[in-house]
Amino acid sequence: MKKMALQGKSCIPIFILLSLGSFCRSDDQLTNAKPLSSGDTLVSKAGDFALGFFSPSDSNASLYLGIWYHNIPDRTVVWTANREDPIPTTSSPMLAISNSSGLVLSDSRGRATWSTKNNITATGVAAVLLDTGNFVLQYLNGTIIWQSFDRPTDTLLPSMRFLLSYGAHYAERLVAWKGPDDPSSGEFSCSGDPASPDIQFVTWNKTRPYYRMTVSDGVSVNGGMYVNNGTRTTVNIGDLFYFMFTISNSSDFMRIKLDYTGKLQYLSWNTQSSSWTLIAEFPTAPCDLYSSCGPSSYCDFTRTVPTCQCLDGFEPDGNNASRGCRRIAAIKCGTPSHFVPLPRMKIPDNFLHIRNRSFDQCEAECSRNCSCTAYAYAHLKSPGAMADPSRCLVWSGELVDTGKYQEAGENVYLRLSDSPGDVSDAVAVRRNRKLVKIVLPTVACSLMLTCVVFVMIYKYKGIIDKDSCLQNST
Ligand SMILES: *[C@@H]1O[C@H](CO)[C@@H](O)[C@H](O)[C@H]1NC(C)=O
Ligand SMILES: *[C@@H]1O[C@H](CO)[C@@H](O)[C@H](O)[C@H]1NC(C)=O
Ligand SMILES: *[C@@H]1O[C@H](CO)[C@@H](O)[C@H](O)[C@H]1NC(C)=O
Ligand SMILES: *[C@@H]1O[C@H](CO)[C@@H](O)[C@H](O)[C@H]1NC(C)=O
Ligand SMILES: *[C@@H]1O[C@H](CO)[C@@H](O)[C@H](O)[C@H]1NC(C)=O
Ligand SMILES: *[C@@H]1O[C@H](CO)[C@@H](O)[C@H](O)[C@H]1NC(C)=O
Ligand SMILES: *[C@@H]1O[C@H](CO)[C@@H](O)[C@H](O)[C@H]1NC(C)=O
Ligand SMILES: *[C@@H]1O[C@H](CO)[C@@H](O)[C@H](O)[C@H]1NC(C)=O
Ligand SMILES: *[C@@H]1O[C@H](CO)[C@@H](O)[C@H](O)[C@H]1NC(C)=O
Ligand SMILES: *[C@@H]1O[C@H](CO)[C@@H](O)[C@H](O)[C@H]1NC(C)=O
Repeated sequence: MKKMALQGKSCIPIFILLSLGSFCRSDDQLTNAKPLSSGDTLVSKAGDFALGFFSPSDSNASLYLGIWYHNIPDRTVVWTANREDPIPTTSSPMLAISNSSGLVLSDSRGRATWSTKNNITATGVAAVLLDTGNFVLQYLNGTIIWQSFDRPTDTLLPSMRFLLSYGAHYAERLVAWKGPDDPSSGEFSCSGDPASPDIQFVTWNKTRPYYRMTVSDGVSVNGGMYVNNGTRTTVNIGDLFYFMFTISNSSDFMRIKLDYTGKLQYLSWNTQSSSWTLIAEFPTAPCDLYSSCGPSSYCDFTRTVPTCQCLDGFEPDGNNASRGCRRIAAIKCGTPSHFVPLPRMKIPDNFLHIRNRSFDQCEAECSRNCSCTAYAYAHLKSPGAMADPSRCLVWSGELVDTGKYQEAGENVYLRLSDSPGDVSDAVAVRRNRKLVKIVLPTVACSLMLTCVVFVMIYKYKGIIDKDSCLQNST
């Protein structure tokens, strides 16, 4: 964890640093003796990131404290402190370390518009901008008090751990900008699904789901998130769920951003063209929007232009499948039924997660309950809470917000009636459970180069101790 250690000037012992603070402040850090004022910037050691005050556009006379890439010509802001409370350009802002409030941003009249609210002794700490883009307030012994990586705005950076859930208590949220030049909180946000943060995360339009993505065994299995070559990290057991990506070559710039239009974008800096390359974007098609195909209809990504299609054994409810579909033969309690595997599916929403089941037990769970309409099963390589490597999902009622992928996705086992009227080609695989077992869900990540997004589960260490959790983990 060398990066977490205080990056003071190595030539000057700490006691001199304390007494002669103003003479030996290095560019990447802020101390009690040397605050940051209007025209100043901090630049991380290797020169990758800068922190300072910016105005989002020439026409907007507001100043924000932010972090951006130091060497990228068009300023690309990755973090903003005072997004709801800008400082007028006519008032010179100041970022300082204060005794009872931690880092404090104030205007020329001394009004604090933002602070990290840490009760500290100002002389015993420093704030350092790291080469990861993380701005860290820490004690001189390196213990972290506060870090910007724990307070993301609209962007995730490599090695940043985005907390999806802590037990049932707390989850972080990315909140998009309001407009291209307006850092204040917009309508779109993104977070772990409160109902099942360990399985899926959702982009919201205000309070309504806008787009949903499932994650499993650390790797996104729905649509995938494909970035440059990456590395996987070991996973511990506990009830903290993180979402994180890494890149193998740290000199490549890569970011995940929730755009103000609601798109979750995966961007990579292309040095040759000196521009950001869009690697992937979600949602990918109109029918990929949350539940846009209606019940029992899915967005078919195997077509050149993705369109809504009825699930096997279903027919359009109206003129076409974009308004939902209905069963050709109803399933009723007491009448025989079977399951058909639908391969490469986006896991539908509104499932019930049943813990600690084998594949057979998962199927039995659905078979014996006549209101169960489908099930899906995954064996997780990285068991989550309670060391349960199984992930048995069952549905009752209609399947919503699903899709069929070319390469990613999982098997969903759909219940259909045995009775006449069921003329689907599913008859061929009726009760062929051997086949069903062979086609176990695979974690697919082959659309682009390598899939490097994963959920990491860290042993519970308490909310306050989250920082030391970070320190122990690499
Ligand atoms: C700049 O943008 C902020 C945030 O939307 C807004 O409150 C402010 O009025 C704008 N200022 C000008 C001069 O347009
Ligand atoms: C902060 O607290 C220290 C120790 O309690 C004290 O010496 C110092 O004067 C205080 N600084 C400010 C700006 O209040
Ligand atoms: C800050 O910490 C000091 C010493 O630990 C304590 O005396 C003081 O009451 C605290 N202030 C607040 C606002 O919590
Ligand atoms: C670092 O210093 C702080 C404040 O003096 C203290 O609370 C913390 O325990 C120290 N951490 C280590 C690892 O020594
Ligand atoms: C977001 O929701 C509002 C209604 O709350 C709607 O008017 C708007 O079109 C939605 N935005 C998008 C991009 O779908
Ligand atoms: C990714 O990197 C590893 C070693 O870091 C290498 O073995 C592998 O071939 C690379 N994969 C791709 C797709 O570049
Ligand atoms: C990392 O990328 C830089 C430029 O993008 C390149 O010069 C360097 O050789 C790469 N390093 C590795 C280990 O691939
Ligand atoms: C299906 O219905 C929707 C809305 O009713 C319409 O926009 C779409 O063009 C229709 N598709 C076909 C293939 O008819
Ligand atoms: C999981 O189920 C097995 C039997 O199916 C049982 O022995 C085991 O105790 C269960 N584990 C948990 C954590 O519930
Ligand atoms: C059957 O499924 C329904 C809906 O999921 C559930 O409410 C009910 O408790 C289940 N019954 C049994 C016997 O598992």
